Amino acid sequence: MNDREGVLGDTQKIQAAITLRWTQEMTQAHLDLRHEQLRVGMPRGSERYPGVDDDPRTRFLLALDARTDALVGCATMQADEFPRDADGSRDADGSRAGMKVHPLRFPLLFRLRAMAVAAGHQNRGIGSTLVRELQRQATADESGLWCNARLRAVPMYERCGFRCVTEVYELPGIGPHRDMVWGGERCYHPRTNT
Ligand SMILES: CC(C)(COP(=O)(O)OP(=O)(O)OC[C@H]1O[C@@H](n2cnc3c(N)ncnc32)[C@H](O)[C@@H]1OP(=O)(O)O)[C@@H](O)C(=O)NCCC(=O)NCCS
Repeated sequence: MNDREGVLGDTQKIQAAITLRWTQEMTQAHLDLRHEQLRVGMPRGSERYPGVDDDPRTRFLLALDARTDALVGCATMQADEFPRDADGSRDADGSRAGMKVHPLRFPLLFRLRAMAVAAGHQNRGIGSTLVRELQRQATADESGLWCNARLRAVPMYERCGFRCVTEVYELPGIGPHRDMVWGGERCYHPRTNT
């Protein structure tokens, strides 16, 4: 088993009710949860992320009911450095052209994506638990994290230490978003101090 498999094979019991598990395998239950929470009213298949889900660098984090092993939460950790352009703008999908990001001292090599918690399990801290585990893994990989957050979810990311780096913009068919970044403590100190 190499290092990567060692990390991916690690299963942690975070609290009594939930087990967190890293995997690189996409399952039907995972796609169902993404579709139910992230692609409401959109056709099946829209919950897939071509080029991401099948990228060998992509890792999925699952929250499972500790008693039944049923999937109750999911997130995707994608290798996608932020920002892409030298001037700090990011206009890959045309929706954020010209927006400036704050200067960062720690590389943001990974993007938090497609996070969802099943209906009936939301607002109990499962989403925040997923974010904290993603932060732990990113730190182990000497990176921060970034995401484009739905406005409704911004307070949760802020409580986990993320900060907004763009104004609100619209993702067609999905709604208003802001880009958010988290760099861990090292984001705020010169790298020589770390
Ligand atoms: C966002 C989401 C993953 C958070 O998981 P969670 O387990 O409910 O989160 P926690 O209990 O740790 O934290 C609660 C916070 O989540 C956010 N939240 C709660 N319900 C939400 C919902 N239906 N949609 C978006 N965000 C929500 C809020 O920021 C909330 O904090 P607040 O009540 O102070 O505003 C989950 O609510 C969800 O799947 N929502 C629908 C899909 C979605 O919006 N995904 C995120 C895309 S960026």
